[in-house]
Amino acid sequence: MSTHQPLVIGNWKLNPGTSAEAKALLVATRKKIKRDAPVTVVVAPPFPFIADLARLSPSGRVLMAAQDVFSEDSGAYTGEVSAGMLASLGVTYVIIGHSERRAMGETDVQVAAKVAAVLRRKLTPVVCVGETVRDGSGGHFGVVEAQVRALASGLTARALASVVIAYEPIWAIGTGKNATPEDVEEMHLFIRTLLTKLYDRATGKRVRIVYGGSVKPENAAALHGAGMDGFLVGGASLSADSFSKIIAAVLPA
Ligand code: PGA
Repeated sequence: MSTHQPLVIGNWKLNPGTSAEAKALLVATRKKIKRDAPVTVVVAPPFPFIADLARLSPSGRVLMAAQDVFSEDSGAYTGEVSAGMLASLGVTYVIIGHSERRAMGETDVQVAAKVAAVLRRKLTPVVCVGETVRDGSGGHFGVVEAQVRALASGLTARALASVVIAYEPIWAIGTGKNATPEDVEEMHLFIRTLLTKLYDRATGKRVRIVYGGSVKPENAAALHGAGMDGFLVGGASLSADSFSKIIAAVLPA
């Protein structure tokens, strides 16, 4: 059983197409979340919509995240967005190393530099890890171990404690094929044991670990029962109805 307040993050990816639609989605989502519900709800809209949406949710019932960030604070880096800029808009969480970005060439070294940049601004990094395939030979543990070790190599125990790790098996993202609660529980324990080995028991416990990959209203309760601290939701976060049902599934009965 998780000892953290559940965390549910909606990753809107390259959606919706207009600012008006983004505002409507945020308003619809916020309406469905009970004030003071014991859950942290975060949405990660595309960069251009963040400023408007942050103004629409001043109460913090829905917190703002970014889907990516650049590792440097300023300078000649055309097209990039810094952690300081995000902080100035009210962003509090930043997704880093999503598999869709790693597929575009992002490396563990770049992920670590982005995590450091985000922590310098006292924002919370949500670092995605996960294997591409599962072949039954246990290779997925090695993939996740390498990604977690690369993340941990540059972080003190104190810094690591404020990181959220999102376990997202790539074969489960956007495919409708979620990992089973047993798979999720096994990987969750594997990551916590690894963190305890790399740091200590207290740090291993403090890190929040969420699951992502085809989380839907129908499977959310079973997946949450596997002990994860919450979810990183893609497709289902684009519907206020589905997203709120996922949030309801992580609330204490
Ligand atoms: P999905 O995406 O929920 O659509 O599978 C999850 C993610 O990419 O974070």
